[in-house]
Amino acid sequence: MNKNAPIGVFDSGIGGLTVAREIMRQLPEERIVYFGDTARLPYGNKSKDTVIRFSKQIVRFLKTKQIKAIVVACNTASSYALDALREDEDIPVIGVINAGARTAVASTKNGKIGVIGTVGTIQSGAYNEVLKELKPDVEVFGKACPLFVPLVEEGLFHDSVTDEVASRYLSVLKEKYVDTVVMGCTHYPLIRSTIARIMGSDVTLINPAYETAVQLRTLLRSMEMNCDEGQELTLDEKYQFYVSDMAEKFRDFATSILPEEVKKTVQINIEEY
Ligand code: DGL
Repeated sequence: MNKNAPIGVFDSGIGGLTVAREIMRQLPEERIVYFGDTARLPYGNKSKDTVIRFSKQIVRFLKTKQIKAIVVACNTASSYALDALREDEDIPVIGVINAGARTAVASTKNGKIGVIGTVGTIQSGAYNEVLKELKPDVEVFGKACPLFVPLVEEGLFHDSVTDEVASRYLSVLKEKYVDTVVMGCTHYPLIRSTIARIMGSDVTLINPAYETAVQLRTLLRSMEMNCDEGQELTLDEKYQFYVSDMAEKFRDFATSILPEEVKKTVQINIEEY
């Protein structure tokens, strides 16, 4: 295995860019191949079997790029497909659930943790399971927020519609006096300021992306698989972006949230994999 090979990162769409951004920040020497399944988004209201099938197709595509590790930068795919992917793969596969749960358990003081995510992530109980494993006496309150993903995809980050929807969704968590909320969907950090304002300054918001990048760095170092430093690579060689639809919209969005301009996004037919 080539230690200078890229890391494969995928999501149902743009949300996983919040994880890619964190990997770029914490592991600046690493190369990334990102895939956003923009043609088949959202994953959050699809069945487990479908999300596993989509995830396996994406991994088959990413492996054509000789990746050395996979980051499932989607909570729904991490909830449903992580075990199935790990069974098949000979390279490390990491998801975002474990990372988010670890940070939440370290943060809570009153033991009441809220988890917001897609219908799939909340129904799967994946966060609940890992949080209870880490700290059996925590109380976990899950709340599916299905309208957040389309609001983010529409770019309504600071908008009265988003405020209204967020107030309605989050009121149940406020009533439970949670002191920590896991943003259990990779889209949600993009409306972090709205969620923070509604939950109030006493509540800590957890973005699993940060801890996922920490775990990735630890893993690569332990396997001596981290990239050599000081490689001369152009931005296009370092970071590659693929989608299944709407390449230009994706490229513009990626440029708006990533530290570097994204010049090229390639559309592929993921059903061929
Ligand atoms: N980014 C996905 C997640 O983290 C949510 C978007 C979707 O429903 O596809 O769960």
